[in-house]
Amino acid sequence: MIKIIKGFRDILPTDILLWQEVENIARKLFASFGFCEIRVPIMEKTELFARSIGADTDIVEKEMYTFADRKGEMLTLRPEATAGVVRAFIEHNLSHQDSVQKLFTMGPMFRRERPQKGRFRQFSQINAEFFGVAAPFADILVIELLHRLFDELKVTQVTARINSLGCPACRPAYKQALLEHLSGKMENLCENCCRRSATNPLRVLDCKSPSCIEAAKDAPAMREHLCDECSSHYRQVLDGLARQGVPFEQDDKLVRGLDYYTKTTFEFQTTMLGAQNAVAGGGRYDGLVAALGGPETPAVGFAVGQDRLIELLSAVKNPPPKGPDIFLACLGEKAALLGFDWMSSLCRQGIWAEMDYSSKSLKSQMKRADKSNARFVLMVGENEIKEGRALLRRMTASRDDTTGQEEITLDGNLVDTLIKKVAESSPAGGKG
Ligand code: HAM
Repeated sequence: MIKIIKGFRDILPTDILLWQEVENIARKLFASFGFCEIRVPIMEKTELFARSIGADTDIVEKEMYTFADRKGEMLTLRPEATAGVVRAFIEHNLSHQDSVQKLFTMGPMFRRERPQKGRFRQFSQINAEFFGVAAPFADILVIELLHRLFDELKVTQVTARINSLGCPACRPAYKQALLEHLSGKMENLCENCCRRSATNPLRVLDCKSPSCIEAAKDAPAMREHLCDECSSHYRQVLDGLARQGVPFEQDDKLVRGLDYYTKTTFEFQTTMLGAQNAVAGGGRYDGLVAALGGPETPAVGFAVGQDRLIELLSAVKNPPPKGPDIFLACLGEKAALLGFDWMSSLCRQGIWAEMDYSSKSLKSQMKRADKSNARFVLMVGENEIKEGRALLRRMTASRDDTTGQEEITLDGNLVDTLIKKVAESSPAGGKG
């Protein structure tokens, strides 16, 4: 038997409800914040990711699924969505329509990391990207949006951590200060950090190796080295978040694993998922659009790791399994033929109807209806067809409610009668 690729996963029907719920809530919330959906390919030219995420990041150095296609073109399964959205923003001149663009996208990403709890090689992200506003309002809005998403989903076990990485004007001096701090500790750094420290010493702050954590312990903070503009921007973001009631903690060591960030960076972290503590991350990337050949465009955004979010949600709630609105328990060939017609007619009209496709006993069909969490069962056999009447039994999820049954006329109005019964029994009083 051919098995699934290591680090990839199937989302089975038993688990899909939470996924759909998260996506529905996110879509609704994004719409109310004025974000429009964009869908970009899951594969792009390798160069797009190398140039945006940064050549000396873990993602580009060792985690991308990259291959030469049949014509030798180097392609990569997207490890993140921002680069593709920025490419599309530039390629379709979106800023010509409106210099301010709020976009969101959802879908699978691919990173060849070591699989573990909360870490997969194919995983899903929900991204929001806000283009065209340099003012701290944009940072505040996207962080608030992310906070509201967790709030709507009733996820309370996350903490927003915030930092500023400065800009091309102030970061070089900070890098220098950091290098000086690390200079006496080079032999303690892990191999990766040792190699990268000359070009990008900030990576050491992000490294999980105990010796690098120790080396970075008393490192200078970027906050102390921000230029006036970055410092004021950072202060306004923090004040704005406080005004909007978004709780946060400052984290001087938060540098993120992608190189395109400027000024504000943030992560929503949890202690519930072991080593994989980041449920969402993002920040400002004012230089990326221009670096990829577009007009100078400030931007800020985030991505939520949907797999991790679902894992958090599963810990707090399990929605009751949904079942069919009506199960048609049909005994005999004639009843089965009629039952099939009623079933498809109901389905066409938006009512989830099921039947037992085998000719099992009534008892075993009832068992199946019960197991499937059906709300009603219509029991039809040869006698019922002859007499033109059948029993409709109301099943209940909890089984404590009164389980009523009533006689229904098997005439030309049967499907309409059943639709009415379902509507009357649904909590909202509408269609099932
Ligand atoms: P990121 O921090 O690399 O940022 O990823 C965002 C989220 O994706 C993480 O917080 C985590 O929840 C989830 N994630 C990442 N890798 C994995 C994995 N191997 N398995 C499961 N979940 C994972 C970005 O991707 C940026 N593009 C975010 C952004 C958008 N910045 C600005 N706009």
